[in-house]
Amino acid sequence: MKSPSIASPSSSFRKTRLSSYFFGLLALIILLILLYSEDFSFLFFRRPSRFQPEPIIINPIQQQQVDVDVDVDRPISTTVKDTKKKVLPFAVGETEECDLFNGKWVKDESNRPLYEESECPYIQPQLTCQQHGRLDKDYQFWRWQPHACNLARFNATFMLEKLRGKRMMFVGDSLNRGQYVSMVCLLHRILPEHGKSMQTFESLTVFRAEEYNASIEFYWAPFLLESNSDNAVIHRVTDRIVRKGSINKHGKYWLGADILVFNTYLWWITGMKMKILRGAFDEERKDTVEMETDDAYRLAMKSLVKWVQRNVDPEKSRVFFTSMSPSHGKSIEWGGDPYGNCYNQTSPIEDPKYWGQSSQKSIMKVIGEVFSKSRVPITFLNITQLSEYRKDAHTSIYKKQWNPLTPEQLANPVSYSDCVHWCLPGLQDTWNELLYAKLFYP
Ligand SMILES: *[C@@H]1O[C@H](CO)[C@@H](O)[C@H](O)[C@H]1NC(C)=O
Ligand SMILES: *[C@@H]1O[C@H](CO)[C@@H](O)[C@H](O)[C@H]1NC(C)=O
Ligand SMILES: *[C@@H]1O[C@H](CO)[C@@H](O)[C@H](O)[C@H]1NC(C)=O
Ligand SMILES: *[C@@H]1O[C@H](CO)[C@@H](O)[C@H](O)[C@H]1NC(C)=O
Repeated sequence: MKSPSIASPSSSFRKTRLSSYFFGLLALIILLILLYSEDFSFLFFRRPSRFQPEPIIINPIQQQQVDVDVDVDRPISTTVKDTKKKVLPFAVGETEECDLFNGKWVKDESNRPLYEESECPYIQPQLTCQQHGRLDKDYQFWRWQPHACNLARFNATFMLEKLRGKRMMFVGDSLNRGQYVSMVCLLHRILPEHGKSMQTFESLTVFRAEEYNASIEFYWAPFLLESNSDNAVIHRVTDRIVRKGSINKHGKYWLGADILVFNTYLWWITGMKMKILRGAFDEERKDTVEMETDDAYRLAMKSLVKWVQRNVDPEKSRVFFTSMSPSHGKSIEWGGDPYGNCYNQTSPIEDPKYWGQSSQKSIMKVIGEVFSKSRVPITFLNITQLSEYRKDAHTSIYKKQWNPLTPEQLANPVSYSDCVHWCLPGLQDTWNELLYAKLFYP
């Protein structure tokens, strides 16, 4: 998509005419200021109260010197020196002075869920809770309400228009796959049956919206770096090994995506030190070192930032990172039954300060530190706190079981309840509403 340009562009613009063109443009800018002084004042005057970077956009592009030379194909705001913040690709609205991630859950039976489980054929059987016997539907009716503003309404037509001729890609683990599927469910309804398809090629799943020439993709890379868990189907290994400096192994499949949404967390949390491979996986004697989780995770985040800086054009593409998805494996953490977990939970946690043991604050800190040094902005989707409240939203026992359950398990559902993944429709639709808001109204 071409950026909107206020100065009407002329492709025959030549260097020799730069100065006269420049004065013409300057005159136009001054005219515009006079006409719309309120609207454009932000281009020239720092107004920290309004354009202060929110904590979630960890790094608006600031380090790069803005080119003073007038380039007619660029939006006008990027040609003016000293602007506080560039207009991000896909943005259509203004920054709202509001932390979208700080809010509460409200029951809203008239506007939720955003789609029905039975209407979306793309949901994997691990996430179709109703089909697998969940009786209550309460978890579908909660809407996230930020304290200081309202979330933009998710408009599938609008989003597909903006994705025309583009690729959006989710990269990460099964939790990110859940968010990906939620996004496909949110968008597919307006497409005719013959105009959409989903195909999987090993680690890559591609949903195509033909009429829009748009694809929404998921790439399996639970550590982002190369690991011994990279097989998209058989990846449950206990002795996890991650290879240092290997991000291009997967990164080559992410090239050219217009919107990237990364996550990685759960696979790092083994309760043990992490094994980092320094050589190659096929070497007979593997050269590994053990690292504390935080240090190993930092290594991966640094690789990600390096990859993004090398391969993402911030004038064209957007990068998001979704924070840790919490688990609810011990109800004692929220003052419940000492032997229970998310099983049989049908309402959110009400304590606004609740933070369980599954989400390590030190990891959040690592992410913040590393991303703050990125020259390409990475928009942080800070979904951890809001998901912490949702002990009711997990798939629990209501999912396809790959292995037959034993009589002991059947007698004690807590023992096989999945308190990591989330039913769809459900919580992850909210993550996408937040992604939508940050994409178009950063
Ligand atoms: C994430 O959001 C929560 C809730 O608003 C907030 O307490 C926390 O500081 C945020 N974290 C970051 C890194 O922005
Ligand atoms: C959704 O977006 C489309 C395309 O931009 C627009 O025509 C339509 O009015 C929007 N719908 C709502 C409910 O805002
Ligand atoms: C379809 O989109 C791709 C990018 O995903 C682009 O390269 C290609 O030119 C587009 N094709 C048409 C016919 O617009
Ligand atoms: C589920 O929770 C309710 C209370 O919320 C309780 O009465 C019921 O016995 C529980 N069921 C099981 C099978 O644990």
